[in-house]
Amino acid sequence: MPDLVQFTRQNDIAVITIDNPPVNALSPSVIDGLARALDQLEQDANIRAAVLVGAGKTFVAGADIKEFGKMTAGQSRGIELPALLNRFEACKTPLVAAIHGNAFGGGLEMALACHYRVAAPSSQLGQPEVKLGLIPGAGGTQRLPRMVGLKKGVAMCAEGNPISAAEALNLGLVDRIIESHLLSGAIDFATSVVGRPAPRTRDRNDKPVSEAEAAAILSAARDMARKKYRNWIAPIAAIDAVEASIKLPFDQGLQLERKLFKECLLSGQSKALIHVFFGEREVAKVPDIPKGTPIIPVASAAVVGAGTMGAGIAMVFANAGIPVFLKEADQAALDRGLGNIRKNYINSVQRGRFTQQFVDERLALIRPTLSYEDFAQADMVVEAVFEGMALKKQVFTELDRVCKAGAILATNTSTLNIDEIASATTRPEFVIGTHFFSPANVMRLIEIVRGKETAKSVIATCMQLSKRLGKVGVLVGNCRGFVGNRMFHAYSREATFVVEEGASPECVDKALYDFGMAMGPLATGDLAGLDVGWRIRKEYRHLEKPGVRRPFAADRLCETGRYGQKTGAGWHKYDENRRSIPDPDVRRMVRDWAAEAGIPQREIPEQEIVDRCVYALVNEGAHVLEEGFAMRAVDIDIIYINGYGFPAYRGGPMWYADAVGLKNVFERVNHFHRTHGELWTPAPLLRRLAEEGRSFADFSREQDASAT
Ligand code: NAI
Repeated sequence: MPDLVQFTRQNDIAVITIDNPPVNALSPSVIDGLARALDQLEQDANIRAAVLVGAGKTFVAGADIKEFGKMTAGQSRGIELPALLNRFEACKTPLVAAIHGNAFGGGLEMALACHYRVAAPSSQLGQPEVKLGLIPGAGGTQRLPRMVGLKKGVAMCAEGNPISAAEALNLGLVDRIIESHLLSGAIDFATSVVGRPAPRTRDRNDKPVSEAEAAAILSAARDMARKKYRNWIAPIAAIDAVEASIKLPFDQGLQLERKLFKECLLSGQSKALIHVFFGEREVAKVPDIPKGTPIIPVASAAVVGAGTMGAGIAMVFANAGIPVFLKEADQAALDRGLGNIRKNYINSVQRGRFTQQFVDERLALIRPTLSYEDFAQADMVVEAVFEGMALKKQVFTELDRVCKAGAILATNTSTLNIDEIASATTRPEFVIGTHFFSPANVMRLIEIVRGKETAKSVIATCMQLSKRLGKVGVLVGNCRGFVGNRMFHAYSREATFVVEEGASPECVDKALYDFGMAMGPLATGDLAGLDVGWRIRKEYRHLEKPGVRRPFAADRLCETGRYGQKTGAGWHKYDENRRSIPDPDVRRMVRDWAAEAGIPQREIPEQEIVDRCVYALVNEGAHVLEEGFAMRAVDIDIIYINGYGFPAYRGGPMWYADAVGLKNVFERVNHFHRTHGELWTPAPLLRRLAEEGRSFADFSREQDASAT
């Protein structure tokens, strides 16, 4: 095995290089190597100072995340970083961390345990552990606030966002920025500190605060955590640990940090968030599309339709620096679309998200047009006109006529059959679905829908392009509603049913919101427009099986003109700022309709509301998985977290079901089947896995193994 830590000398300065590609993660072998390097340092009296540096493109970007999983499974001896870092700090020879790329997590903790820090100008420093449901576990919560102060220390540990080298210098976290060659600069710096007492971070208190200030800072941090990370354990634990840094002696603070770290590590939340972290990488892998599949260069794009979605999609291309034509049917619609884009950008400038210059450059990339002829040279076109097969086919016939050979022709349809749309062209292998989510410039998900003839290079290009656009692309099959909306259909159906059975819309939304969803299902319907589903249900009524219960309350609401937020009322009422207000009229109306339909009313416990909605997702997810419309359970999870506001700390619906135990889920689904009939027929895959004591993750692993 290659040496992951190298020890060399440049005159009387030692250079300790961590060389564990790709990100120099602190695996147990790296920690062993560092301990040996320290032994060597301590034994050599001729060495006057040492520089710690990362090989390749970064310093240390964190602990080895795979190691966390092994620790919880008891397959690892655990990370012995805290003890090593105590040795670093106690070392008589001054240690200088030379940072480039990222000093994240354990990497920053290691730098904090050194006596000095220098950094390349483009470095980023941070404690992002909370994003994995963890807290810094090797002194970060104790050392960082001693150096940068309580306010910044608590923000970095509880929010997890990194800071730049320049900010680190201002805060005193970095002693010098090295503009020239990092290692030479670091060696010069190390030479300059020889003979000076080596400052230990544990003894520092660089930015003291009064008790009252501390109380205010901590209370504001807890408010932030409850809001931004609603229901998450780790951010609050991080704040508790940082609080200890000002209230307890250093070693006791370290012990508390360790205890809280372990609690977080063993919590279901961190397991789920680590699953999501790996999942986001996993979804990029498509078993039958090998890595070297040719990619079609996309240097220019075009969008048809400048409505809600088309305008947002044009912004997505522009934000990635790709010039984009935006076509509308008439000048008024084009002006409206461009007006919305401008308004959106102005908001971003006002909120400090973008600079005016960035916005001006992006706007210049969006080229309005009324003619298809401008599309001739576009590498990719995304169609986002009204949802209707005849119109879509007409648009694709035009695209087929004007677009150059090899251009990707994508549709943003959310329900229609990609193959039928492709049939309007002479090149179905270039037709694909790119299903963005609203608002397209904000939501991270793109469902990439594979038609029966879509070429592999077209799929590979769209998967890669998603990343370039700052999105996460998940490949799905061509079924009605694809993966996300097909499952959502079952979820919102149950939300409607429980209202029809007696739950108030507020209770239903609150139950799912408290479960962790970004919004309740009924509020989501109000936001999207209840008329959208109403129209779709009318269109597909002929496919419904007679005698099977179907939800009616949303349709009846639409009949009274309540379409949701856009009409000021739907399941809830809305004030002029679109804030929702409970509306007792809805309860009354639904009760009357239920009486007509002979549906008895009852109190429905919150847990039943959650189970009905979430297990409806899971049961449909099991169908989707078994039918192969999603490649793996994790693909569904990533879709739900990024497109539907499912809480990441629950890992997505399929991971959640696995965590509850499929046997338990199956029993509950079976119970609903007995009580509520055919729509709750357990998916065969759910039944089989539950009976065999296996999970969706097991099933996906086996599928993956047989595909490769
Ligand atoms: P929209 O009604 O806001 O916009 C459609 C636009 O297309 C209109 O501005 C219309 O003037 C324009 N248009 C119609 N025919 C045209 C033509 N021949 N050439 C150029 N422009 C034309 O609709 P929205 O919501 O943007 O939906 C567009 C597509 O995106 C639909 O397929 C929809 O199912 C899908 N979608 C919608 C989502 C949403 O939340 N609104 C989410 C995901 C997908």
